[in-house]
Order: sequence, then structure tokens, then C-alpha cells
Amino acid sequence: MPSGLTILDVRDCLAQARSVTVLTGAGISADSGVPTFRGPEGLWKNYRPEELASPEAFARDPKLVWEWYNWRRELVATKQPNAAHKTLVALERRIEHFWLITQNVDGLHALAGSQRLSEIHGNIWKVRCTQCNRVSPNRDLPLVYPPICTDCSGLLRPHIVWFGESLDQDDMTRSYQAVRTCDILLIIGTSGVVYPAASFAPIAKDGGALVVELNLDPTPNSSIVDVAFQGRAKDLVPLLGDAT
Ligand code: OAD
Repeated sequence: MPSGLTILDVRDCLAQARSVTVLTGAGISADSGVPTFRGPEGLWKNYRPEELASPEAFARDPKLVWEWYNWRRELVATKQPNAAHKTLVALERRIEHFWLITQNVDGLHALAGSQRLSEIHGNIWKVRCTQCNRVSPNRDLPLVYPPICTDCSGLLRPHIVWFGESLDQDDMTRSYQAVRTCDILLIIGTSGVVYPAASFAPIAKDGGALVVELNLDPTPNSSIVDVAFQGRAKDLVPLLGDAT
């Protein structure tokens, strides 16, 4: 397996690649000012996921859960995509088979212009009816409680995959396919501890892909991938974007 690759070598590999899949996590949006989940400054340092991001929490206290999501929506609304998000848009435009899988719910990839995109953990700007399951966009700021479905008057919830919930089956089929069949998998800004995304590196390697990690800190993926670069996404990812 290739080792000792520099980031410019990876850029050259990307120039030859026909099929590229990218997995992103909170680290890519950290450079836009969106908090990550783990680590000293992470959201899960001050908030308990089981009290705010689980179906049980919503059943117990929907107002509290909505207050937390409303706070996050207000925060994300002030943020813009950074150079890393934009570089991925440029890669998508010139690579024949490109798929971006994000665990982020902030919508910044779509705002940057990414189109071949699976938001596998949902999107903070979408709501879903707890009665009829209809998903709809919602950018209300603040979101007035209780938000009600215009179709059936059911209570709306954030369209987010919470702890203990299943991911969308179509999204996952497409994502696994993209991971299994790519020439290169880029893993950017994720701690690599949440499944199923945590399984993507070994799956891509089994499929013969070059697997590259770009992250501020070492992660469990670092020992699996072909090469791991440590640094900020906004500094590292643009170095991959000049190849044409
Ligand atoms: P984490 O907070 O677990 O990990 C973020 C990773 O990004 C860490 O490894 C950091 O070292 C790295 N990082 C921080 N700043 C960075 C920067 N500027 N450039 C590059 N890397 C940086 O976030 P995720 O891995 O995305 O689930 O977490 C996965 C899921 O766990 C999230 O989608 C969320 C959470 O519970 C849901 O919301 C459903």
C-alpha cells in the first residue's frame, strides 16, 4: 500500500481519479465557527445527548429539545461555508463519479453548492411530522413552539437522526455503494467513532481505494487509512483542489 504520500501526491492522485467519495464530519464546519461534538470545546462536553438528541428526550420534553435545536439553528444561520466546503464543490464539478457523504446537519455543504450529497444524519433546516412523517424545509428563526404540520396538525420534530434511530435506507445504500466503488475516499474532520460512517475506511480499503484522512487530531481511522494528514480542514482541503 502507498505510504509516505504527501498532500501534493494525493492531489495528483485526485487528478487521475474517476471515482471519488468524501466523508465529512463536524471538523470541516469547525472552520466556519460551528461547534464540534467531541473534544474540549465540543457540544457533548456541556450537553447530554440522551437529554437532547434522542426520541425518548423528545417524547419527554419536546419544548426543551426544540429550544436546543432553535439555539443551534440561530448559531448556524450566522455561519458561512469555508474554503474546504468550496474545494469539495470544485472537485464534484470535475470528477465524473463523485459522492459526498456528510454527517453534518448544518446544511453548509449544500449552501456552498454541493449537489451530489447525502446528509446521512439529516438537516437542521428540515422538519418532520411526528404523525404523518412528511419532511419539509423550515428556516423559521426563531422557530415558534409548538411547530405544527400544515397537513395533519401533528407536532413537528427536527429532521435529524437521533441516538438509537435508523439512518435512511436509500441514503445508506447509495453511500455504501459510493464507498465500496471509489478510487479514492477522503475522510475529513470526523472523530470516526459514530457508526455507520466509522466503518467506511475499512470498506473502501477492501474495495481497493486509496483512503486519505484529513483531520486536526489522530483518530481511530488514522491507523487504517493509507495516509493521514493532521491540520485544519480549511488549510488542508484547498491543497487538493488545484489539480485539473
Ligand atoms: P466529532 O465532534 O466527534 O469530531 C470532530 C473531529 O473533527 C475531531 O476528530 C476533531 O479533531 C476534528 N476537527 C476539529 N476541528 C477541525 C478542523 N478545523 N479541521 C479538521 N478537523 C477538525 O464530530 P463527528 O465525527 O462529525 O450526530 O461526529 C459524528 C456524529 O456524532 C455527529 O454527526 C453527531 C454526533 O453525535 C448527530 O448529530 C446525529
